[in-house]
Amino acid sequence: MARFDDGSAGDADYGRIGPGYASIRQPDPRIEAIVWDALGDARTVLNVGAGAGSYEPRDRDVTAVEPSASMRAERGPDRVPAIDATAEALPFADDSFDAAMASVTIHQWPQLERGLAEMRRVSRGPVVILTFAPQVPEPWWQPVYVPELYEVEAQRMPDLDRVARALGGHVEVHTVPIPADCIDGFGQAFFARPERTLEPEVRRAMSAWSFLTPEVVSRYERELGDDLASGAWDERWGSFRTLASFDAGLRLVIGQP
Ligand SMILES: C[S@@+](CC[C@H](N)C(=O)[O-])C[C@H]1O[C@@H](n2cnc3c(N)ncnc32)[C@H](O)[C@@H]1O
Repeated sequence: MARFDDGSAGDADYGRIGPGYASIRQPDPRIEAIVWDALGDARTVLNVGAGAGSYEPRDRDVTAVEPSASMRAERGPDRVPAIDATAEALPFADDSFDAAMASVTIHQWPQLERGLAEMRRVSRGPVVILTFAPQVPEPWWQPVYVPELYEVEAQRMPDLDRVARALGGHVEVHTVPIPADCIDGFGQAFFARPERTLEPEVRRAMSAWSFLTPEVVSRYERELGDDLASGAWDERWGSFRTLASFDAGLRLVIGQP
């Protein structure tokens, strides 16, 4: 697949949607703790598709790989600069790191198996992947307003059996509950705060929206906006506001050699 102008090497153009990403997509400390635990006692950690650096441990020796110049520019001064490379061709020798991680990125890779084999090749220890299962959660209000978004995601999110096969070795899959006040602004993080999804910058930080037509997006804004204003949303879906957490399909895959 040809890379976009800013180097984006997946299916989304981060030259277009990357600026401002880090203001919405900050790591959530509860999800962070789960990722760090899975890294075990690894001292050297490779983060692939690293973006602005979410979930990178701060107390270990991190190497970050990120093909998009816009996303490399989103990394704060507290993060190591990312190397311009892709998952499918990691520029490291075999067994270079104690662990490798990838967070909410594998669904964008043009060659999933190749990227995962590369992660397996360069890690002596665990390969830790945070990703969404392709199945739509049930019940869940957002696909009622915008089924198109979930049709896009169902095509992109790889089946977890496929991920496990590609990793080989011993693979565990864990459910990661999303807290109601989740800091990381991926779309499903707003399950109890539907108003936030009416903000264009919130939608821009979730790449699936970039595949929808402006007409579909306008319909979503209008219909959800009207239902929130009239109370119809709360009448039908208000129980989502009372949940402490929600299983929206976020999964942690841990592959051991
Ligand atoms: C949704 S962002 C996630 C960024 C970060 N890991 C996080 O959790 O916030 C997806 C990232 O994957 C990167 N990406 C897409 N295709 C890639 C590939 N083939 N190899 C490496 N990274 C890729 C994108 O450039 C983007 O920064």
